[in-house]
Amino acid sequence: MLKVAFIGAGRMANIHAPALQKIKNIEIAGVYDIDPEKSKTFAEHYGIPRQYASQQELLEDKSLDGVLMCHYCPDHAASMMAAMENGFRYIFCEKPAIRRMEEGPMLLDAAKQYGAKIMIGHHRKHDEINRKMREVIQSGVLGTIRFAKVQFSNPFFSRGWDDYFADYARSGGTTLDMATHYIDLLNWFFEADPESVYARAVMLEKTIPKNLNPSDYVSATLVYKNGIICGLESSYQRFGVCYDNIEVYGDDHTVILRDGKLRLYGKKEFTEYDVSGAVNCYELQMQEFVKMMEDGKERQTTLAEGIRSATIGLGMLESSETGKAYYF
Ligand SMILES: NC(=O)c1ccc[n+]([C@@H]2O[C@H](COP(=O)([O-])OP(=O)(O)OC[C@H]3O[C@@H](n4cnc5c(N)ncnc54)[C@H](O)[C@@H]3O)[C@@H](O)[C@H]2O)c1
Repeated sequence: MLKVAFIGAGRMANIHAPALQKIKNIEIAGVYDIDPEKSKTFAEHYGIPRQYASQQELLEDKSLDGVLMCHYCPDHAASMMAAMENGFRYIFCEKPAIRRMEEGPMLLDAAKQYGAKIMIGHHRKHDEINRKMREVIQSGVLGTIRFAKVQFSNPFFSRGWDDYFADYARSGGTTLDMATHYIDLLNWFFEADPESVYARAVMLEKTIPKNLNPSDYVSATLVYKNGIICGLESSYQRFGVCYDNIEVYGDDHTVILRDGKLRLYGKKEFTEYDVSGAVNCYELQMQEFVKMMEDGKERQTTLAEGIRSATIGLGMLESSETGKAYYF
């Protein structure tokens, strides 16, 4: 039986824990949350035998085979480093992988040195509809790809404005916390590297002090080295509707994911793909994590992919702050 423990026992831990408990050969053996009440509730709810008093106590538990990190982005790199230094070879860490550019190479070097396998929580790659979209793009049916448009809107942002997700310095706002999911998909769809990004962001919340940088809405132009131009918009706006759209235009066809439907458009006709959505992408992600622990082979989203996506998000933040394009 493989044993794992959680760092952080909030929303994402409560999505991953039940998914893990559906899998044979895995036991959630412990939990550490900086808030002991959260650890206690989580341990009681999932029947977890051990609550650790600190992250270090967890990392010194030699009975563990792996660790899942579901705390906040500014702590991700330091916790991954500490886990590797304490002998952990299997780590799942929620996105975004890093909060500062320099953390990327440091983590990649350490993972290589320790032979650690790390999965980053960009779960959208496990979503059937996104898998199909990549298959369509990779098939070449679009012809030469010219541009992509991504639009994300969440007008039901219900968190308090004094919390982590509203704290630009920590979370990077919608630019880092949300746009990186879509950047991760675009990188995977195109299997290409970005050349530059230009971004502008605004803060919509009027109670946030003006000296804090903007984070509620971002509009960016991301250009890949192969020439594909991507218009990307991510928003925690207050009014309107939720949407989650991706459009990729090629010389021969356009593929569009809109309102949960995936369609391939020609000049006068379109084909709609049957993507049932029967597979729960979070459950699939945990199944892949356990398989990675069993066979030692890296799974998506790999550390390198997660770092690349976060680096592009950080480039967007820098562009927005300086008013200049950021070149990678
Ligand atoms: N993949 C997704 O779909 C998805 C969705 C939401 C959030 N996330 C990511 O997951 C991470 C956590 O988000 P959440 O929504 O679960 O937040 P949350 O606030 O619900 O939970 C985070 C938990 O971590 C604890 N914590 C904070 N700092 C800690 C530390 N240093 N050590 C131990 N515990 C600590 C908090 O007390 C809290 O219980 C974020 O990086 C976020 O971007 C991913």
